[in-house]
Amino acid sequence: PAPGWTATTDVVVVGSGVAGLTVALNVRRAGLRATVVTKAMLDDGSTRWAQGGIAAALGEGDTPEQHLDDTLVAGAGLCDEDAVRTLVTEGPDAVRRLIAVGAAFDQDEDGTILLTREGGHHRRRIAHAGGDATGAEISRALVAAVRNDPGIELIEHALVLDLLTDADGHAAGLTLHVMGEGQRDGVGAIRARAVVLATGGMGQVFSATTNPAVSTGDGVALALRAGAEVADLEFVQFHPTVLWLGADAEGQQPLVSEAVRGEGAHLVDASGERFMLGQHELAELAPRDIVAKAITRQMQLRGTDRMYLDGRHFGAEMWEHRFPTILASCRAHGIDPVTDLIPVAPAAHYASGGVRTDPAGRTTVPGLYACGEVACTGVHGANRLASNSLLEGLVFAERIAADLAARHAAGDLPERAVDVAAALEASTVPLLAPEARAEIQRLMSRGAGVLRSAGSMAATAEGLTVLAREASAYLDEGKPADPRVETWEAANLHLVATALVAAAARREETRGCHWREDFPDRDDARWQHHLVTTLDADGH
Ligand code: SIN
Repeated sequence: PAPGWTATTDVVVVGSGVAGLTVALNVRRAGLRATVVTKAMLDDGSTRWAQGGIAAALGEGDTPEQHLDDTLVAGAGLCDEDAVRTLVTEGPDAVRRLIAVGAAFDQDEDGTILLTREGGHHRRRIAHAGGDATGAEISRALVAAVRNDPGIELIEHALVLDLLTDADGHAAGLTLHVMGEGQRDGVGAIRARAVVLATGGMGQVFSATTNPAVSTGDGVALALRAGAEVADLEFVQFHPTVLWLGADAEGQQPLVSEAVRGEGAHLVDASGERFMLGQHELAELAPRDIVAKAITRQMQLRGTDRMYLDGRHFGAEMWEHRFPTILASCRAHGIDPVTDLIPVAPAAHYASGGVRTDPAGRTTVPGLYACGEVACTGVHGANRLASNSLLEGLVFAERIAADLAARHAAGDLPERAVDVAAALEASTVPLLAPEARAEIQRLMSRGAGVLRSAGSMAATAEGLTVLAREASAYLDEGKPADPRVETWEAANLHLVATALVAAAARREETRGCHWREDFPDRDDARWQHHLVTTLDADGH
């Protein structure tokens, strides 16, 4: 079918969190036009929800080298050291540039940025804003900056369908469906000289997650369909402490930032006894995987589904000033952290893997770039260090913009010819009924969550296969001529869940945030390497 509309830009960016907006702002400096497309509203992604902050060696006595050491330890032998070095050395100036764009971080009376601690950091290294509303402030500042730039076009409520490529296999734009009123309603295409994925994570593949509803793995799914390499999918990080809302809690869960532990709150059992002492030299501030596992073990031992955070000693004033967001969300659920223990449990939080990129953010498909949570730059390895993700989005977004600027200056970023109608006609994505989403989440949480074994993952994989078969009625209806967001999201979730389970089943060891009950030890001899996923020609 002919597309309803087409538009042309220089660089099309998918996603509007810290990574996507930073790419857009930076390519403008090279005189390139940018179009940002986002599935919901500009600030609906994960960036806005980030609490703890952004890690960078900004404090007196801290150095990028120390930040590197902590990142490598958390990454459990699978970080790309060069990528981490880039992150930690370029990080401090990238944060300063973010401040210059308008993000206001918390400071003392002398104007020195206040820094807190989180799991795995041996120093106070986390800059924060509004106490525990760091992501909201970063998002506010970046959204204001892009809205101010007439060279950046913003398209909200635009669901990206697939990558367009030219005859040379170079990215040439995207097909997408804009939902809403006006000229751009319906299926259309944006032609571009390069495409940047900054679509965020895939937390919605599990029942309980800190991720917003929009985090459905769209970028990884698109990249897989486009033939790109994806790596480290098995390394899904579970945040140790979300507010426990009952055993059957589903969807986005309220985060209780690690910074609460960074400022001295303790993890305790129902009787008030600390259980992290003696488990790790950093106790409650051990790397996240260790804390999540310790909580899970305690819950198993005691036959319960929650542990507790004790921050009563902070007092009302500190809760109000330092953690206003968390205080409000606890109180909204009838818990007062000033006088009560906070019930907490782990929930899916962050995809350490994603679309594989080089240090310039290039994927294995020419002209297709990725940054932020959707990317696998190699900085996180088997387990991301707390508060490194906003930093990664920032630093590698700047690097992508620099690469595009250099290519543009060298005449290596020409316009691309593409047959949009033919691409839409050729699309054979097996869309799924929206109801599949909840079933995918249940299957994944049951069999491929914090605890995994060969048996649990075989059952999950089988469940996903059955689900696809049962939903195959959708194959005939599912032409992108009339896509609904929910059907595409279900399809994307199914694809990334299937790839994730396959990778997790292959990795027969326990490492970082990948915990195999049947292979409880780290096995460097067999597994100190990345698992790379691609789709074959049949879409498997
Ligand atoms: C938190 O505030 O605990 C989240 C920080 C992060 O995920 O990096």
